[in-house]
Amino acid sequence: MATAQPTPLSPVIITGGASGIGRACAEVLAEAGRPVAIWDLDADAAQALAASITRDHGVKALGLAVDVGSLEAISAGVAASRDALGTLGGLVHAAGVSGVATLEQLTSENWQRVLDINLRAQPFIIQAMLDDLKATPGSAIVGIASINATQGNALNPTYSATKGGMLAMNRALADELANYGVRINSVSPGQIATPMLLGGLEHAPGQKEAFERRILLGRLGEPREVATAVRFLLSDEASYITATELVVDGGNLSSQRG
Ligand SMILES: NC(=O)c1ccc[n+]([C@@H]2O[C@H](COP(=O)([O-])OP(=O)(O)OC[C@H]3O[C@@H](n4cnc5c(N)ncnc54)[C@H](O)[C@@H]3O)[C@@H](O)[C@H]2O)c1
Repeated sequence: MATAQPTPLSPVIITGGASGIGRACAEVLAEAGRPVAIWDLDADAAQALAASITRDHGVKALGLAVDVGSLEAISAGVAASRDALGTLGGLVHAAGVSGVATLEQLTSENWQRVLDINLRAQPFIIQAMLDDLKATPGSAIVGIASINATQGNALNPTYSATKGGMLAMNRALADELANYGVRINSVSPGQIATPMLLGGLEHAPGQKEAFERRILLGRLGEPREVATAVRFLLSDEASYITATELVVDGGNLSSQRG
């Protein structure tokens, strides 16, 4: 019988790594000794986080300006991350935009931008780092989906399409990647206290309380509570887990409260 290998400490790219869930992923992975490439639109925040991670955890960290909506930027970002950190062994695609647009507000431009960032980016990042993943034992990928992959919300059909698309896409990618010993899974957060969610709640009186009534654990989640699930899925502790969705929502999809 095969025995579990030690958790690999290969470098991980984290998109959207300067804020919220991505930021928490960078921090908990670095705590476990993994070098991190923090990609974000906000270069200053990414570089400041990389500097504090290296100082606090003694691992290599790179902060990089990458717009994951651009295929050219993705390809340059993978090359720069490899140059700085060495052969890559993990990816967390956390960059995302909520892109609120009802049917009346929908345009081909806002539809395409949300699709490009939330969904298209991930397979093209994987393509650009595939040789690294194949060469690194224990390589794994996590895409950050959402409970909106499953719940219907009139405000965000585009967002929901990207998140449902990610679940389906990752099951398909898992089939090919398994041939190379690479695992891929999706994590679906519920309502997590990040700038994305809290920004929206500021303009919606009573919404936070409505969320809390529905959630079985009675509160919003913290970014770190998603990040530790991501770290598990990227580690060899999860060596027999691929092509699945891990819901991290405090009991939201399953709730009849509200
Ligand atoms: N917060 C929640 O309640 C929640 C729930 C379910 C899913 N999610 C998902 O979690 C992920 C992270 O969201 P968050 O809540 O931490 O949001 P956030 O806004 O705090 O962080 C998102 C980060 O992505 C970056 N980003 C946006 N567009 C980018 C681009 N084109 N290229 C590179 N970086 C880009 C932003 O600059 C930001 O730093 C998203 O995919 C989101 O859809 C969040």
